[in-house]
Amino acid sequence: MADDAARTTTAIKVELGARSYDILIGRGLIADAGAELRRRLPGVRVAIVSDETVARLHLNALRESLRAAGIDHVAITVPAGEESKSFGMLTRVVDDILAARIERNDVVLALGGGVVGDLAGFASAIVRRGVRLVQMPTTLLAQVDSSVGGKTGINSPRGKNLIGAFHQPALVIADCGVLDSLPPRIFNAGYAEVAKIGLIQDAGFFVWLEKNWRAMAAGWPERDDAIAIACRAKAETVAADETEQGVRALLNLGHTFGHALEAATGYSDRLYHGEAVAIGMVLAHQFSARLGLAPPEDAERVAAHLAEVGLPTRIGDIPGANFTAEQLMQLMAQDKKVVRGQLTLILTRGIGKAFIARDVAPASVTEFLEEKVT
Ligand SMILES: NC(=O)c1ccc[n+]([C@@H]2O[C@H](COP(=O)([O-])OP(=O)(O)OC[C@H]3O[C@@H](n4cnc5c(N)ncnc54)[C@H](O)[C@@H]3O)[C@@H](O)[C@H]2O)c1
Ligand SMILES: [Zn+2]
Repeated sequence: MADDAARTTTAIKVELGARSYDILIGRGLIADAGAELRRRLPGVRVAIVSDETVARLHLNALRESLRAAGIDHVAITVPAGEESKSFGMLTRVVDDILAARIERNDVVLALGGGVVGDLAGFASAIVRRGVRLVQMPTTLLAQVDSSVGGKTGINSPRGKNLIGAFHQPALVIADCGVLDSLPPRIFNAGYAEVAKIGLIQDAGFFVWLEKNWRAMAAGWPERDDAIAIACRAKAETVAADETEQGVRALLNLGHTFGHALEAATGYSDRLYHGEAVAIGMVLAHQFSARLGLAPPEDAERVAAHLAEVGLPTRIGDIPGANFTAEQLMQLMAQDKKVVRGQLTLILTRGIGKAFIARDVAPASVTEFLEEKVT
C-alpha cells in the first residue's frame, strides 16, 4: 500500500450536459466510497451488484464504508464470468433490485469487472425505466473502458452485447489498489484496452507504454497515471459522440476481429475479451499494412509490444484454434458493425492514426484471414 501522504485522487469529468459525471481514480477509494456517496447523493439506498470472486475479495470493505456513512444497502452476487451476461441472470438481478425496493433516485452500484458493470448497468437502465448507476470497476479493463461511457448489456447466443441500452452512470469510482488482487492474465487482458488508446490516437502514449509497461503492471504511480490517461481519452471520446455515430467507433479498434474470435471460442476462458482485442488490433494493423495504408513496421511493433507484455497476438496463439476464414467472416457479419453487406472496420495509417473505414470489401478480408488462420 502506498503512503497515505502520497495518495492522490484524479477526477475526470465526462461532459454530457445535465448528465455529466465524474470519474474518480486513485488508491484506497473503496474505503472512501460511503463518504463520497453521502456527499454527492445524500439519502440514497444502494443495491450493490458484484460477482462471487469480487465479493469475496472486496465487498466487505465497501459494505464497511457504506455502513460507516450510514447508507442503507443490500448486496446481490452473481457467478463470476461472461456467462452471467445472460437473460437468466438479468432477470434475477432485476428481481433482487425490485425486492430491495430500490427507487429511481436510489443507486445500483456495480462492483466488479466489465461483466458485472454491463449486467448491473443494463439492469439499472430498465428497472423502473432507469435508476441511478454508480460504477466501481475492479478490473483494469473495466477501469479504463467498460465503466465509462454508458454502454450496458448482455450477450445473445447470436452474438456478444447484442442486447442492451445506453445508460450513463452518475459516478465512477476506480480504486486502482483493488487491481493488486487481479490475476496477471486478467490484468493483461485489460492492458490491451490501455494500449488501444495509444494505438488509436496517441502515439506518444504508446511509446510511453513501451518503456513503462513493467512499472505500470507493478503498481503505483505509473499504473494510476496510465489509467487516468486512458480514462481521459475515453471520457473525451464519449463526450464528443455519446451514441457512437462517429468518432466513438474508433474505440472498436481490434474489436470486429476480436468479437469474431471470442464468438468462435464460445466466449470461454480460452480467450478473454482483452486478449481477443489484442489479436484483433494486430490483425487490424496487418490488414491496414496489406492495403498499403500503414507501414508494415508499425504492425510488427504493435505485435512485438503486446507479445512482450504476455498477450496473444496471433490467431494461432488461441488454445485449440481451428477456425476457417469463412467461419470468422460469418461471425463478423453478425457483429453490429455491418451495414448493407459492407464491413465497417477500424483501420489505421500507423500507430496513433486509426480511422473508420466504412466500406471494406468482405472479399479482401476473407483473403487476408485465410492466411492468418493457418
Ligand atoms: N460496456 C462497455 O463499454 C464495455 C467495454 C469493454 C468491455 N466490455 C465488456 O466487459 C467484459 C469483460 O470485462 P472484464 O475483463 O473486466 O471481465 P470480468 O468482469 O469477467 O472480470 C474478469 C475476472 O476477474 C475477476 N475479478 C474482477 N475484479 C477482480 C479483482 N479486483 N481481483 C481479482 N479478481 C477480480 C472476476 O471475478 C472475473 O472472474 C466483457 O463482457 C466485455 O464485453 C464492455
Ligand atoms: Zn473492448
